[in-house]
Amino acid sequence: MGAQQVADRFTELYGTQPEGVWAAPGRVNLIGEHTDYNDGFVMPFALPHRTVAAVSRRDDGILRLHSADVAGGVVELRLDGLAPQSDRTWAAYPAGVAWALREAGHAVTGADVHLSSTVPTGAGLSSSAALEVVIALALNDLYDLGLQRWRLARLCQRAENVYVGAPTGIMDQTASSCCEQGQALFLDTRDLSQRQIPFDLAAEGLRLLVVDTQVKHAHSGGEYGKRRAGCEKGAALLGVDALRDIPYAELDAALARLGDEEEIVRLVRHVVTEDHRVERVVDLLHRGETRAIGPVLTEGHTSLRDDFRISCPELDLVVDTALAAGALGARMTGGGFGGSAIVLTESAEVDTLTKATEKAFAAAGFTTPRVFEAVPSPGAHRAL
Ligand code: GLA
Repeated sequence: MGAQQVADRFTELYGTQPEGVWAAPGRVNLIGEHTDYNDGFVMPFALPHRTVAAVSRRDDGILRLHSADVAGGVVELRLDGLAPQSDRTWAAYPAGVAWALREAGHAVTGADVHLSSTVPTGAGLSSSAALEVVIALALNDLYDLGLQRWRLARLCQRAENVYVGAPTGIMDQTASSCCEQGQALFLDTRDLSQRQIPFDLAAEGLRLLVVDTQVKHAHSGGEYGKRRAGCEKGAALLGVDALRDIPYAELDAALARLGDEEEIVRLVRHVVTEDHRVERVVDLLHRGETRAIGPVLTEGHTSLRDDFRISCPELDLVVDTALAAGALGARMTGGGFGGSAIVLTESAEVDTLTKATEKAFAAAGFTTPRVFEAVPSPGAHRAL
């Protein structure tokens, strides 16, 4: 769906042309899962799938929202009536961003918005972050707020944590806001310092496939929050601010100190080894050893499945099938409990792998997965 089409639909709905059109992408995470709320490292890149918003300012304190992807008409809200966790619908995400901006003291006095998205929802590909970031960027530009990209990401995270009520980290919003075409984003979630890492798989005869299992997940449910609370307990028991502060070389000693806290031991082991895997991947890419990241991705899956315990049969089946069919590496990506897996493969093997996965899903009686190639695409930007 193009920016002009979204602008035209805005005009049909609201009777005037929008002041502008903005776009923000979904993301896939290459490595670094459940490390962001532990102040650790992540390495996402932006997908070509994106949320597009046509927006105009209003000066009467009203926010009007419409989405091409949701049944129902225009949602009308009063900005001064917005209250955290009062709305369980999709409108809570854009409304939450307006709320977070105003709460931070930014003079946002209203907006008319029409949205349309190609980011699959509930697929672990950050449809929520795309929706938040596109609104934040549009309001930042229209109201001339002058906020930097990382700051917009922080405000979007606050909208999601406080207004929507999902206790997520900072990765997805930063990915949507800060990623660049052709690059993966190596992000330190403690201070949001970042490095763009060139990631052109096709040039090396490789592909990264995303396999959306179609198993829907939601992070406002309890399991994500339980993992997060367990990590925080682990950090407290070990006397550090965050698990990021446990050096990989000291992991065994730290685990020994946790004694018989079996569940906390597993969570801590995942987080500390996962941070180390991100650093290994960055290092391998730097040395041009792209194929060698495959086994590191697969180790990440094993850790998420066995230690963090957030995989599911469909995700495990993607990984097992891909590896048996010759993939270089595979793992679940995103928050877990459903959603998508990624598969690193030689370009020539894409069809074989796709067919093997579809066949395995049919044999297991699972819904046919959606398979597509992920190419690092532009981050959020003004489209018209
Ligand atoms: C979800 C959250 C992120 C991150 C991932 C797991 O996508 O929104 O903040 O915690 O799960 O890595």
